[in-house]
Amino acid sequence: MKFVIRYGLAALLIMIAIILIVPPFAASLIEQWSQSDVESRSVLAFNSALDDFTSLFEEHNSKRIVALFDRMALDEQLLAVGFCDEQGALLYKTKEMPKNFTCKQATLRKTPTFSTLRLGHSRLLISSFPVATPDEQGHLVLVHDLALVEQRGAEARLWTIVVLVGVVFLAAAFAVLVTVLLARRWLQSLRSAIDDVRLGGSGTMEASDAPPFAGEFRHLLRDLQLTDLAAAGPDLDWSPAMLRNVLTHKLPGAEVIVVSNREPYIHNHKDNQIIVQTPASGLVAAIEPIMRACGGTWIAHGSGSADRKTVDRFDRIRVPPVAPNYTLRRVWISEEEQNGYYYGLANEGLWPLCHMAFVRPNFREEDWHQYELINARYAEAVASEAKSSDPIILVQDYHFALLPGMLRKRLPDATIITFWHIPWPNPEVFGICPWKEEIIAGLLGSSVVGFHTQFHCNNFLDAVDRIMEARIDRERSLVSLGAMESYVRPYPISIEWPPAAMKDQKSVPACRATVRRRLGLADDVRLGVGIERFDYTKGILDRLRAVDSFLTSHPEWQNRFVFVQVAAPTRTKLAAYTELQVEAAELARDINARLGAHCEPIRLIVRHHEPDEIFELFRAADLCIVSSLHDGMNLVAKEFVAARDDEQGVLLLSTFAGASRELTEALILNPYNARSMGVAIEQALLMSAAEQRERMRLMREIVRLRNVYRWAGQMLLDAADLRNRKRIIQIASRRRSSTEILNRVQAR
Ligand code: G6P
Repeated sequence: MKFVIRYGLAALLIMIAIILIVPPFAASLIEQWSQSDVESRSVLAFNSALDDFTSLFEEHNSKRIVALFDRMALDEQLLAVGFCDEQGALLYKTKEMPKNFTCKQATLRKTPTFSTLRLGHSRLLISSFPVATPDEQGHLVLVHDLALVEQRGAEARLWTIVVLVGVVFLAAAFAVLVTVLLARRWLQSLRSAIDDVRLGGSGTMEASDAPPFAGEFRHLLRDLQLTDLAAAGPDLDWSPAMLRNVLTHKLPGAEVIVVSNREPYIHNHKDNQIIVQTPASGLVAAIEPIMRACGGTWIAHGSGSADRKTVDRFDRIRVPPVAPNYTLRRVWISEEEQNGYYYGLANEGLWPLCHMAFVRPNFREEDWHQYELINARYAEAVASEAKSSDPIILVQDYHFALLPGMLRKRLPDATIITFWHIPWPNPEVFGICPWKEEIIAGLLGSSVVGFHTQFHCNNFLDAVDRIMEARIDRERSLVSLGAMESYVRPYPISIEWPPAAMKDQKSVPACRATVRRRLGLADDVRLGVGIERFDYTKGILDRLRAVDSFLTSHPEWQNRFVFVQVAAPTRTKLAAYTELQVEAAELARDINARLGAHCEPIRLIVRHHEPDEIFELFRAADLCIVSSLHDGMNLVAKEFVAARDDEQGVLLLSTFAGASRELTEALILNPYNARSMGVAIEQALLMSAAEQRERMRLMREIVRLRNVYRWAGQMLLDAADLRNRKRIIQIASRRRSSTEILNRVQAR
């Protein structure tokens, strides 16, 4: 806009300057031409009267002289005629001769002269012609009125201005039109060149459409490789194609290996058949689209009852089942090992340690040994899958705190990025872990340790500071432990955009109708949903209490509001989880008995749901409650937003979920305060469609832009930077050592 104003002003100034210069110039030209026309007429008049005048003058016949002058003055521009004698006295003159005219005002020479004179308001042309008789000499003076000349000049000025302004406006309009059309074509060809570069092409443009600087632009694009911009520009569109481009250009030939506990596809026996299931896990939801986009190998625990049956002799299977494009390598874990590593250390120790949910962590020596053992098994699996010495290994989550250190020893040139999907507690809390040093040292085997938020990065750095003998460069977020250097960075995780589950979704009204029919709800009953694993960190009990508080304080909503809580059973071997299930069921029963005379307000559905069903439920709901007591990010919140392409529905989001840092247009709540959560439910139910749209639109834009491809892309770009830096250091140290050898040889 500034640019337009600046150049618009400059154009206006130029136009004013032209208008100030050209019309006066044109007017003066016209005046000069008209005046010389008058002068010629004056000469003509003099010549035609000269003979008569000379003879009358010799006769001193003043009467006839004046009569001759009167005849001459009949010419419309000739105002008056007079005769000045040698002494400068006006001897004869016509009546119209201006009163204050004297012969001194005329230029009396031996040749004809023409001069202008302003008398009063009139401008006059005084032509003087020498006349000589044998006895006397003098000058015949013709006085012309120049009013007509002035009028012509004024008209010329006016018309020049009118024509100039018209021409300038027409030219400007034409120029703007041509510029807009040209700019559009150029922008289109630049946009397709950018897309071409993103997809790995050379960014060539059609010669006919290419802007004049196309060559330079292409070079610039290539130089920047666009992916640099992507790293810096959060607003760029991250997509699978963009991610593939990052891999192709920034990490050419790189091998990507993902390691996680949970596998993306679980094969189970059911009714004499093998069925495939996708687990309810935020981690899987985030990593799976990345693997679909980039290919590579995903190493995970084969936990399904039919998993062994479906792999090849190397324990590998190509997935996704429909259109496979990456390899799932399964790792086998016995029940005893699983009890120690997964249920014990990971989920009874680290999970409650990292989540502020007031569940006491339990640390048992034997669990720790199993944890070490399984981390070592995964290290073995990664080493056997790696085809190169410097793969990019993406280690996922708290099940593998020791793995990065183990991998660093086996594959020193690997780029290891470890992402911790749950919160990192403050140093006091973390300090209670009996293996705090081992866990941090293991994680610092990574090239980059990633968390969802800067807050968790800071907590981790504080823990390193307090527990380890390490050097911390807080400005660069870099930790040096011995020879190892690890960056600690935030990468807010997200979901794919658009989500695969949206592909076959019916319209929102159709989803509402289906879900209502299934739940047996009347048309005027409003619907709230909560969807997650049945985990005590999710604040499920607190949410039910909030519904209780809302319906108790607003009886008018009883039988008119139903809350569907979908909870996928998880970690059911652990008492904290089974107790939660029992308590939630009891609470739901109690609320329904008290407040559900005609329509039970709580519908607790305890089973696993596939993504399609979850999205259908999201689309049918008026509101969604995410009331985590503590959560690294929480992808359910983002999925709800992604499901609402009708821009309706209200998200109620816990302030203790990382997602609340990004989805600020949700109704942010404190899950520990049932009454205020109840107030938020009422606020959501009464919110106008316009306000819902405004909030939803902003949140959808955030989720669209900060999608999971951006999450992975930024990690891969950081991996690329680290690899390049490592290579440069290696080349420099090789050069240094060869120079040293040369110096030594020369010294000898
Ligand atoms: C959630 C957490 C992840 C965790 C996963 C494990 O998605 O955010 O950090 O890895 O649960 O769930 P699981 O059922 O595999 O124990």
